Amino acid sequence: TARTALGGNSASSWAALREEATSCTRCPLFKDATRTVFGEGPLDAAMMLVGEQPGDQEDLAGRAFVGPAGQRLDQALRQAGIDRAGLYLTNAVKHFKFERRGKRRIHQSPRAGEVDACRWWIDQERTLVAPRMTVLLGATAVRSVLGPKAGTIASLRGRPIPLAEGGEAWVTVHPSFLLRVREDADGEHERFVADLRGASARLA
Ligand code: URA
Repeated sequence: TARTALGGNSASSWAALREEATSCTRCPLFKDATRTVFGEGPLDAAMMLVGEQPGDQEDLAGRAFVGPAGQRLDQALRQAGIDRAGLYLTNAVKHFKFERRGKRRIHQSPRAGEVDACRWWIDQERTLVAPRMTVLLGATAVRSVLGPKAGTIASLRGRPIPLAEGGEAWVTVHPSFLLRVREDADGEHERFVADLRGASARLA
């Protein structure tokens, strides 16, 4: 079928892209990070998840969402009945940004200019995968995919947002927010699970 033929081409395009990204110098973040952490998952995934940037553990492992935020995400995906293996998981920014404090590397949010510089990669991933649903985890993902004037998480959250390129976006919080929130932590977790369920239901 056309899909299979296309699959071959997009698989090699994706592999070339990923290889090219290993030596990215589009912004200064490559200097201190261990490696580029590219997106991963089936190229015919119906759903793409977009995070912020790799964390300490992702930077070491070279894989997205394997640290504490990833574990919280995994738990929520299970609760929402979504199989992680069927998703394409990526980040708005592909290098870990941090500040050294002794032996520890403390996460720093990427600047707008870094998100804008890295958009080149996620745009290629989005074109290749062309998901029907793109779940945006937090403000950095929102800026990357919807632009700087899209609005707040609260104003965009929990409803389908049509994308000019095709498909829909669905905005929710970042799982690391769930790890630090004090007030109504269980309720926030449940809202996150409900957002994932809502996004997934659009594909039914
Ligand atoms: N946080 C993210 O946004 N992405 C990861 O891959 C890990 C933590």
